[in-house]
Amino acid sequence: MASASYDARRGELTTYFDRTAVEAWSRLTSDAPVSRIRATVRAGRDAMRATLLSWLPADMTGLRLLDAGCGTGALSVEAARRGAEVVAIDVSPTLIDLARERLPAIPGAGRIDFRVGDMLDPALGRFDYVVAMDSLIHYRAADIARALAALGARTDGSVLFTVAPRTTLLTVMHAAGKFFPRGDRSPAIVPVTERGLRRRISSERALDGFAWSQSHRINSGFYLSNAVALTRALSPPSPRKNGSPSVPGVRS
Ligand SMILES: C[S@@+](CC[C@H](N)C(=O)[O-])C[C@H]1O[C@@H](n2cnc3c(N)ncnc32)[C@H](O)[C@@H]1O
Repeated sequence: MASASYDARRGELTTYFDRTAVEAWSRLTSDAPVSRIRATVRAGRDAMRATLLSWLPADMTGLRLLDAGCGTGALSVEAARRGAEVVAIDVSPTLIDLARERLPAIPGAGRIDFRVGDMLDPALGRFDYVVAMDSLIHYRAADIARALAALGARTDGSVLFTVAPRTTLLTVMHAAGKFFPRGDRSPAIVPVTERGLRRRISSERALDGFAWSQSHRINSGFYLSNAVALTRALSPPSPRKNGSPSVPGVRS
């Protein structure tokens, strides 16, 4: 069950991504010109999306993927182009509307089911892959670990996610960010150390069957983020409830 701090932070993020930052976020995720600082963020985010996509199969036909905190849906589109059945969920109805508006024609079997809601909703079902790109970075480390456990419990392949690494540079950048007007600021990003994250993940029983299989840092100007892949090495403890296909080689 999600904690009070998770629920509170999700509420703040809903306000931020559904109202305060909609314009800026819409622009950042488009081809429209942006400031030099934001261009570094856009380039970093493009590189991060490419990294996460490189950890997914080239052919995702018949595989279910959850894009957890999908925003305007760029990663969902790429996964659907590979044939995936994507559930793309975000707490911001405005961003989901934008994602629907921007949705290009997807040739082949891939499709995207856009939803407004919490990424941890168990009603979303089981998945072969879950990707949470930059959607857990605002939550406390304990809430990140609990969210990964909840997502992992219904994932048969890998959970791919990003975290903000705790570095001196990031601490300075966050301090600098405090000089911006309050209305322009997002809810604080919560940097985590790899050691601390590994410790928390290893204490989540639902993640017992997963191995920390890959990680990669993207550092592009004002964008600094670590991608991590948790890959299921052992079968999930409970039987599957729906007929979604398995990932070859990772389940018995
Ligand atoms: C920084 S944006 C990233 C969006 C997208 N993953 C991307 O990389 O373009 C974070 C997104 O996560 C969403 N989000 C945060 N917490 C969420 C939650 N608990 N459930 C669903 N969406 C969430 C926010 O509304 C926001 O759109």
